This record gives sequence, C-alpha cells and structure tokens, in this order.
Amino acid sequence: MANSEGSSGPVTHVFRGTFIHSTPETALQVLEDALLGVDTAGKISFIGKGENLLELSQKFGFNPSDVNQLAQHEFFMPGMIDTHIHASQYSYAGTALDMPLLQWLNTYTFPVESHFKDLEFAKKVYTQVVKRTLRNGTTTACYFATIHTDASLLLGQIANDFGQRALVGKVCMDRNNSVKHYRETVQESVDETHRFIKELLNKKYPLVKPVVTPRFAPSCTEALLEQLGTIAKNNNLHIQSHISENIDELKLVKELFPDSETYTDIYHKFNLLTDKTIMAHGCHLSDKELTVFRETGTSLSHCPNSNVSLCSGILDARNVLNHKVKLGLGTDVAGGYSSSILDAVRRTLDASKVLTIQNPQHQTLTFEEVFRLATLGGSQALSLDDQIGNFEIGKDFDALRVNVAARGGPIDLVQCKEPKILLEKFLNLGDDRNIVEVFVAGRKVVPCEDLALE
Ligand code: GUN
Ligand code: FE
Repeated sequence: MANSEGSSGPVTHVFRGTFIHSTPETALQVLEDALLGVDTAGKISFIGKGENLLELSQKFGFNPSDVNQLAQHEFFMPGMIDTHIHASQYSYAGTALDMPLLQWLNTYTFPVESHFKDLEFAKKVYTQVVKRTLRNGTTTACYFATIHTDASLLLGQIANDFGQRALVGKVCMDRNNSVKHYRETVQESVDETHRFIKELLNKKYPLVKPVVTPRFAPSCTEALLEQLGTIAKNNNLHIQSHISENIDELKLVKELFPDSETYTDIYHKFNLLTDKTIMAHGCHLSDKELTVFRETGTSLSHCPNSNVSLCSGILDARNVLNHKVKLGLGTDVAGGYSSSILDAVRRTLDASKVLTIQNPQHQTLTFEEVFRLATLGGSQALSLDDQIGNFEIGKDFDALRVNVAARGGPIDLVQCKEPKILLEKFLNLGDDRNIVEVFVAGRKVVPCEDLALE
C-alpha cells in the first residue's frame, strides 16, 4: 500500500482502521491499520499506512487527534450498489409472489404502479424506499419509477434530499392490454421522457441522474423503442430495461417481434445496447447474445431473489463473467422481496451453488467474487466505476462502516477474527444493525435524524 495522494481540496475527515474492498485484479483486498482521508468534495484524497500518521498529517494538513479510529470489530467497505430496483413496487414488497412474470405484472404490478399518478402516495412510498435502502447500505440505486413524470421527478428529489446516489427512470410503455389505463401513446411517452430528462437535469442534483427506461420489449412498440434509442443517444444518457427473464416472456417476444432473430437483436436494432445500458435478468440469454452484450458494453443486473421468487430461471453468473460482460447485483423489488443487497449477495451464492448441484463441473462463485459484484461490479455495470466502487484515490467516498459485533445485532463473535472472516460473517449473517454509518460522497447519510423509520 503506497502513500498515494490525489490532487484535492482540504481534508475534512480521516479514518483509521481496516478497509476491505475489491480491485479489478483482486476480488478481496484488505488494508489493515490504514488511514484514509476525505476532502471537502467528498473524494478520497489519500490512503496510507497508520504508522505514517505524522507524516500524512503534515502533508495533508490535519490534526492527528482528529483521526476517527475504528473499533476492533469494525471495518469500512465500499457502499453497495443496487443495479435494478423498482421504487414504486416497494409498496407491496414481500407479498404477491405466487405467479409467474407475465401474470404477476398484469395482476399486481400494473394496478399498483398506476396509483403513482397520486403524488401523495408516491411521496410516501418513495421516501420509504430511499430511507430503507440507505439503511440497508445501498449507496447507489438504479431505480425504475412509473410512467408518471411528476412522481418520477419526486423520486429524484427524495433521493437527493436523503443523499442517495441514484439513476432514476421514468418508465416508458405504450403496450398494455390488461390494465389499459396504465399505458401511454408513443407521443406521450416521448414527450414526457423529454420533459423528465430536462426537468431532472435542470435541478442539478449532484448525485441523481435520469435513465432512459423502456420497460421491456413486450410493453413497447418498435416506434417507441426507436425513439427512446435516439433520445438516449442524443443526450448521452444511461438506458435500462429487462431482458430474457422468463420462458413465456421469450415466446411473447417472438410473437410480437417476428422479424428479430433474438431478444437481444430487438434492443440492438434500436441503439438501446450501449456501454451505459443495464439490462436486468438475462437468465435465458444465449452465448451469442452475451457476446453482443460484451461487444456493445451492455451490462447485466443479476437479480436472484426475483428470479427464484417468480420462478423465472437461474442466471449462470459464472458464464456471464466468462464472457466478460459487466455484471452487478439487483434486488428487483418487488419481484425480489428483499430491498437489501446483502440478500442479493446470499441469493447469488445460493443460485451459483444450485448450478453446482446440477452440474458438479460448474465453478461456484466465491463470497469474495460476490462481494465484488455488490460493490465494484455494480459500479462497472452502471459505468460509474470512475467515480465509485472501491477505495481508490480520487473516487467519491461511498462507504459503509460495519461493526460485526454491534450490540443487539445478529452476529455473535466467539473470538477475535481476522478481517476476511469478519467480512464473510457480515455478508452471510449481518443486517442493518451492523451498518453503523453510511457515507455517500463523503456525507454521512446514516444515521440521520430523518432516517428514523417509525
Ligand atoms: N419485466 C417488465 N417489467 C418488469 C417488472 O416490473 N419486474 C420484473 N421482474 N420484470 C419485468
Ligand atoms: Fe425488474
């Protein structure tokens, strides 16, 4: 570990203790007795060794007595990244998991989402989901809202107010035969997408950005997909959607788009696969389609809770990684019932182990690899890895202060354990009681007075 330094403003916080993160080369890197400085812009200004405290304090102009020392069972890890979550569906999370995808959308999802025309209702649900995910350690969330522009703008405002980094998508859909009042015309969808982008960008929220959001191919006509591809391109924006989640969905896609050879081809044809595109699921993608993902820089969001809860399929995450496709984790609330990326970590390991049970040749993911997917992998999937994802000088300080032995928490420590074991315990057994502080761009967002969840 070098005493590296960045070119940044004055140092406002310095922490000393164990830091655990990933790099592209190493799934798990442990920095023991490290010193990390954060500047006024919330960026990491230096990382050094504890033994060099005096020298670093002189160089960066801080008082050694102001250093914030971590306790014995504490460590810092990068904030977790939820690459796919439906903020609007949080209202029924934990229920309604008794149907496969297409019936589930028609029966539960579309009727609930249609209520977000009501801004009071939207405010209540969006405030809850932002608070809850922050407490669960999600420092960055890539959100689907609903088709309603004003409610989607409200989600952006709430994320900004509570200090969460977010990509927010106003959902676009001009096809819906089951809940007919929950759809737009092509023109409405295009006009409202323009308005959403313009108004959200005008707010100049430092951490909240719009994402172009065709719901998925079966909800969109070719005319709409084409226009959304153009809007994303002209404004250099992120794009998110769903792909290849469930077998009945694949059959429907073949019926609706008879001229496209594969599901992937549909999005590709309309310029919706870019290095700023995040596609959820992909359980049933072929190797050929994964190659198109790699070539276009499109990423996948692995949502294992949802994939099992809706009996959709099991993504072979190892195969995705072997194809060098960017991969992050998603909760997919409310297809997935948990809003915690810690849950996504556990389900990802379970899914990988199920594949190994089915085929002993399958190379099971390790907890270290899945830790990387929840942090650095998510940042790569969102093309934000130049800003977040690990503890690199110049990146924003998005971090969780974890106390594995938190009083009243779920983990009993029998003896003092090495950091790697503490991380493994936290990933498998921990919850929000162990996440004692959450920082986004250097700002402490948990605990926060407003974050009381009564
Ligand atoms: N495909 C299209 N819309 C949705 C959604 O809301 N959730 C999930 N899981 N899949 C979808
Ligand atoms: Fe989804």
